[in-house]
Parts: sequence; C-alpha cells; structure tokens
Amino acid sequence: MAARCSGGGIAPVLLLLALAGTSSAQLSTGFYSSSCPGVSSAVKSVVQSAIDKEKRMGASIVRLFFHDCFVQGCDASLLLDDTPSFQGEKMATPNNGSVRGFEVIDAIKSAVEKVCPGVVSCADILAIAARDSVVILGGPNWNVKVGRRDSTTASFSGANNNIPPPTSGLANLTSLFAAQGLSQKDMVALSGAHTIGLARCTNFRAHVYNETNIDGAFARTRQSGCPSTSGTGDNNLAPLDLQTPTVFENNYYRNLVSKKGLLHSDQELFNGGATDAQVQSYVSSQSAFFADFVTGMIKMGDITPLTGSNGEIRKNCRRMN
Ligand code: HEM
Ligand SMILES: *[C@@H]1O[C@H](CO)[C@@H](O)[C@H](O)[C@H]1NC(C)=O
Ligand SMILES: *[C@@H]1O[C@H](CO)[C@@H](O)[C@H](O)[C@H]1NC(C)=O
Ligand SMILES: *[C@@H]1O[C@H](CO)[C@@H](O)[C@H](O)[C@H]1NC(C)=O
Repeated sequence: MAARCSGGGIAPVLLLLALAGTSSAQLSTGFYSSSCPGVSSAVKSVVQSAIDKEKRMGASIVRLFFHDCFVQGCDASLLLDDTPSFQGEKMATPNNGSVRGFEVIDAIKSAVEKVCPGVVSCADILAIAARDSVVILGGPNWNVKVGRRDSTTASFSGANNNIPPPTSGLANLTSLFAAQGLSQKDMVALSGAHTIGLARCTNFRAHVYNETNIDGAFARTRQSGCPSTSGTGDNNLAPLDLQTPTVFENNYYRNLVSKKGLLHSDQELFNGGATDAQVQSYVSSQSAFFADFVTGMIKMGDITPLTGSNGEIRKNCRRMN
C-alpha cells in the first residue's frame, strides 16, 4: 500500500495526517502477530496454573476485565495501585474487598515481559486472560481483539458510578450498560458470567431475607450462611450459581427461572419483565447463550480503548511508567 503511494508526493503526507487525526485506531486480532507471537501461550499457561491452583480464580479474572472496561474503557485503569498521591479504583465500593486476582495479572505480565519486553499492554493481558479463563472453565472460545494501551489515569468516581450495584433494578442495569454502548441484550448475556464465582453476604443479604421473588428453600439455605445483620458475617461467601460455580455453562439462567438468583440484580433479569424471554431462550439453548456472550465480551472489549500513541505500555501493571 505505502509503495503504491510513494511516488505521489503529497498523497502520503495527507494519508499520514488523516491517520494522525483519527482518535481511535481499531483493535485487531493480529496486532501482536509479528511483535509478540508468544503472547497467547505465555498468558494461557499462567492462567491455567492459577486456575489449577484455585478454580475460583477464573471467575475473578473475568470480573477484573468487566470492572476495568466499565471505567474509562478497557485501559487497565483498575490495576493501578493507590499511592499517597494517587487515588486509583481499587478502593471504590464495587471493588474494595471484592475484586481479586491482581497477583495473577502480575505473574502473567512477568511471563509476557520475558518473551517480548515492553510490547504487550496490561489492558490486552486482561482481555486475553478473561477469554482464557472462560475457555478453561468450559465456556466458549473466541479470538480476542488486541492493540489496547494502558492508561496513566484512573477514576475512583467512575468505578463508583459506572459499575452497577447488586441492588439495581432492570431499568438501572439496562441504562448503566447503555451508557457503555452495550444493549439490554448484551447485558443479559454478559450477566451469564455469574454462572461462575462467588459473592459476599453483604451483597445478597437483603435479597435472601427481605424479598419475595426468591424460592423459599433457597432463601433459607443462603440465610444460614449469612447473618441477617451486618457485621462479622459480611464477607461470608456463597456461589452465584448454586449448582456448578466453577463450570461455565447456562445454569445461571436455569437458576433464574426457578427463582434462585443470588443477587437482587440477577433475579431482576427474570422477574416478569422484558428480559424473561431472553433468559428462557438461554435455558433452551446453551449455544445461543455462548454466541451472545462472545458478542458481548467483544463489544465490552471495544469500550474506548487507548490506541496508537495514546497511553503507554506499562512495565508494571500496578503503576504508570
Ligand atoms: C449486570 C450487572 C452486574 C452486577 C450488578 C454484578 C454484581 C456482582 C456482585 C455484587 C458480585 C459479588 C462481589 C462480592 O460479593 O464481592 C459479582 C461477582 C462476579 N461478577 Fe458480576 N455483576 C454484574 C455483571 C457482571 C458481568 C458483565 C461480568 C462479566 C462479564 C461479571 C462477572 C462476575 C464474576 C465472574 C463474579 C465472581 C467473581 C469471583 O468469584 O471472584 N459480572 N458481580
Ligand atoms: C475499604 O475496605 C476497608 C476494609 O473493609 C475499609 O477499612 C476502608 O474504609 C474501605 N475504603 C473505602 C475507601 O471505602
Ligand atoms: C436507579 O436509578 C435512579 C435514577 O438514576 C436512581 O435514583 C436510583 O437510586 C437507582 N436505583 C438503584 C437501585 O440503583
Ligand atoms: C429488611 O427490611 C426491613 C424493613 O425495611 C429492615 O429494617 C431490615 O433491616 C431489612 N433486613 C435486611 C436483612 O435487609
């Protein structure tokens, strides 16, 4: 392409100016194919050993990607540690005492830096590791678009305001996803990530003690591990999918139809509203769920990435260079 234009004098200059003016270059699946062909296997082997050690870690990594992308885009802003002069996102309400897996991301970064130093962003590592986690736990596979760069900023208020709380109703869930360019359909499909992982008592207490759109026996079972008043039991854990919290399949939706969603927000997806039919369709067809989940993950991964010369490739995912 460049050779064809090179005799033209002014044309290549205009082309360069046009490229420089585009604010966001596109992500692509082949971005590292010549600069770091070893990235996929380096990421995958660390994710595999982390999950071998602790199955829940796959869920925790998937959630890191979500909480990163919903705050100023998929730019690894979530990974920045607080310092005396810098407020990151880790202490924001949805994250504090809840998000985990940062040591695994550090281990992946070290493995990747060994094969191609200074090339692969922490934001792309999160995207690849989330896909690998889903695959290892039995879910669908897809090609991850890469080419993101890492932020030099974070947003504590963005983390508090953009990430939906588990008290949200359907309308608020829908609007918080819409604010990120994701549809209600994407929201319902992406929520299927709650087929893996655990939640703390503080996040499901009101639903299991005080709400009526929940199976009675299931509510009592969850009450037994979660004291009714806040205090020492706040961090007691229960599986988001009561059947198989370390296997990625469509049981999450099956639970919702039998009123066994753990979070208030989960049960909102099947509560007599506009999303009931989509939930039912995923109970009938796991492959429909998998296809829509992949579409949703790719769309979520496209939320305002830093590309080109914006941002940086961090040396250490926990701090800017
Ligand atoms: C639809 C709105 C959503 C709400 C309200 C929500 C809320 C929550 C809450 C409250 C927890 C438990 C945290 C704790 O108790 O410490 C949780 C866990 C989790 N969430 Fe979500 N979430 C939502 C969407 C998503 C999406 C889109 C994904 C990924 C695609 C996701 C992946 C996960 C995973 C995998 C866990 C378990 C993490 C672990 O075990 O470490 N969630 N979520
Ligand atoms: C984060 O959680 C810790 C431990 O529960 C708590 O002491 C601290 O105040 C919380 N930080 C913020 C900013 O809420
Ligand atoms: C839902 O959104 C409305 C309007 O922004 C807000 O007033 C309300 O507190 C939200 N409710 C929940 C449970 O998030
Ligand atoms: C249930 O609701 C009552 C009345 O609003 C409230 O006093 C109580 O704290 C709630 N309990 C839980 C576990 O949320």
